[in-house]
Amino acid sequence: SLIGTLLGREETRSLTMDQPRPHSLLDQGTQGVIGRPLDRIEGPLKVSGQATYAAEYPTDNLAYGVLVRAPFGSGTIRDVVADAARSVPGVIDVVTDYPTFIRNPQQGGEMKAPTQGVEKVDYHGEIVAIVVADTFEAAREGAALVHVDAQPANGAYVFAAHRDQAETPPPDQIPPTTSQGDVDAAMAAAAVTVDATYTTPSQTSAAMEPHASIAHWQDDGTLVLHGSYQMVASDQSQLAGALGVAKDKVRIISRYVGGGFGSKLGIAPESVAAAVAAKKLGRPVKVAMARQQVFDATVRRSNTEQRIRLGAGPDGRLTAIAHETLATNLPGEDFFEPAGIGTHFAYAADNRLVDHKLVRLNWLLAGSMRAPGEAVGMLALEAAMDELAEKLNLDPIELRRRNEPDQDPEKQVPFSSRQLVPCMEKGAELFGWSDRHAAPASDRRGEWWHGIGMAAAVRSNMLQKSSARVELTPEGRAIVATDMTDIGTGSYTILAQIAAETLGLPLDRVEVQLGDGAAPPSAGSGGSWGAGSAGSSVYLACELLREKLARAMDTAPESMTLKDGRAIADNRAVEIGELVGDGLSALGEIAPGKQEKSFNQASYGAHFAEVKVNAVTGEVRVERMLGVFAAGRILNQKTARSQCLGGMTFGIGAALTEELVHDPRNGKVVNRDLGEYHVPVNADVPQIDVHFLDERDIHANPIHAKGIGELGISGAGAAIANAIYNATGVRVRDYPITCDKLL
Ligand code: MOS
Repeated sequence: SLIGTLLGREETRSLTMDQPRPHSLLDQGTQGVIGRPLDRIEGPLKVSGQATYAAEYPTDNLAYGVLVRAPFGSGTIRDVVADAARSVPGVIDVVTDYPTFIRNPQQGGEMKAPTQGVEKVDYHGEIVAIVVADTFEAAREGAALVHVDAQPANGAYVFAAHRDQAETPPPDQIPPTTSQGDVDAAMAAAAVTVDATYTTPSQTSAAMEPHASIAHWQDDGTLVLHGSYQMVASDQSQLAGALGVAKDKVRIISRYVGGGFGSKLGIAPESVAAAVAAKKLGRPVKVAMARQQVFDATVRRSNTEQRIRLGAGPDGRLTAIAHETLATNLPGEDFFEPAGIGTHFAYAADNRLVDHKLVRLNWLLAGSMRAPGEAVGMLALEAAMDELAEKLNLDPIELRRRNEPDQDPEKQVPFSSRQLVPCMEKGAELFGWSDRHAAPASDRRGEWWHGIGMAAAVRSNMLQKSSARVELTPEGRAIVATDMTDIGTGSYTILAQIAAETLGLPLDRVEVQLGDGAAPPSAGSGGSWGAGSAGSSVYLACELLREKLARAMDTAPESMTLKDGRAIADNRAVEIGELVGDGLSALGEIAPGKQEKSFNQASYGAHFAEVKVNAVTGEVRVERMLGVFAAGRILNQKTARSQCLGGMTFGIGAALTEELVHDPRNGKVVNRDLGEYHVPVNADVPQIDVHFLDERDIHANPIHAKGIGELGISGAGAAIANAIYNATGVRVRDYPITCDKLL
């Protein structure tokens, strides 16, 4: 049609967040779907087995690869002896010129294609070869027969033995050190002080779906890789780099991801292995990591040692706050767990110090895990605040209220929005905080000590460059396409809600296609930026489509209403499908701008926990938890709540059970399955309540939503630790708080 010809050229609406965006179409929606607690639109596919995960794509002529791990902690490989493996019936090849896997380039760095096989091994479990066979069973048998002949080296396997050689990591995105005023002098002058050191162990993400890839080289030299990844565009670029091919020669497809929590931010060894083997064999190869390989050879959260110093006047006002941390990583790796990141702006104090140092250990690569920084940093800071409240004989909420900064205390810029105090107050009311016995160990019922604790949650909000295409079809449907992923978070659903609300379409007329690297690139799912970034790109495309529809209606966008699939203006109502000719599409692109520098953007919350501790055995049971959060617009009350429930459950694990144990002889992860690494199970998770405060953040992005995926874990474990102290009077500073430490 003429209109289609006139309007059909795809245009792009780009927005860089240099200015606040006070107006949002989502506040005037006619469909009433935004924010509603709708079920996940892909949920039925998942529970009926129809959602195809990476390892499940039917592929003709598929060969199976099994990874071979270094059975020592550090050394030089002399030879990979594979004769026995090669003689196993069904084994096709043992690929020993597997590229030196440059570990897990989690921070988005480029990877380089190496020229030969692995020579130097830095950690137990590092991948050194792949056995490929016609069947999985033959490949596994072959892998067990590969002998790695190595010249061992002296590795660094014990944190305590090397902690004194900590070094300052190179400044990357996060400066390792910031300092202001004179903490030492302020501590010496303070009426009340806390100087305490907390430790947290290595942890693992333990995503339900283990890492898996199917690599299939096409006739045109393009690699199609079905993988389980969080950030498709940057993962494609990393994989291309590792393989030494052009970026546009790699297409990753991750339509469904069974959890990531950071472990799938960067590519993991199985994708490189599958691609290298598939190329060599000239046939598609699948590599699915076993659970133990995920523990051994992907990524861990670093253990930390954190010294917190707080100095306060008799009124509880902080004069000094210092957070000095040690984290660990492999030689040559720059990533450090930024445990002090929330401390930059959580509380006011004139004299401040945040410092991160790195200890080099031959343990598995350390990288991002859910809320890198805050998740473990607030286990220390928020416990120290509780210790200070106790010394001051001040209510923990009142202590935090008295130290509420009126602007970012380091950068001297305003907060875009900050509702920490309202979160605490609402939580206190909902949880019954006033019933708490302020004196520790004062509520014993039979064998059990009871206690209540709270902690604040802060988590920085980030916006990342992200794009999406939205197409309106002649049938009056919308198709949203972006390489954004849904890692269990609800991306499919919230993007559909944004498109439905802004285009005036019933939700079932919106189709969302995610996780395909052939679609417009997004920032993916990481750092809690997924909903805000991908959601804004979809929003901008829809905003542009509305303007085009208004033009087709010969009216101004403000004078037109889109509702239930029709455009309404000047007493006319026209089916949207009739306005778009052969179809109409628009690209939306969002990018961070000056608003990120002009404002401190973060989301906030308050955690409350009630525990009981057995006086005889030291067993801790979490009785109930409440999280109250403020994170801008909540796009879907149900998926947002589920994110917070999951984060708070991680908090239970961090407080009570989760700990990767490294063998002091070789750094090997000893407890490398879910039987030995204890994540909270149903019996450990009590009734958890989640409450959101109403909020819009006009500085964050055009949809006014902030990150929520990592807010729920931040501070959750500290609320439990503080409740345990309140119950027992025992302060355990070495996480996890297991029974032995309480007796
Ligand atoms: Mo997150 S640790 O950026 O997946």
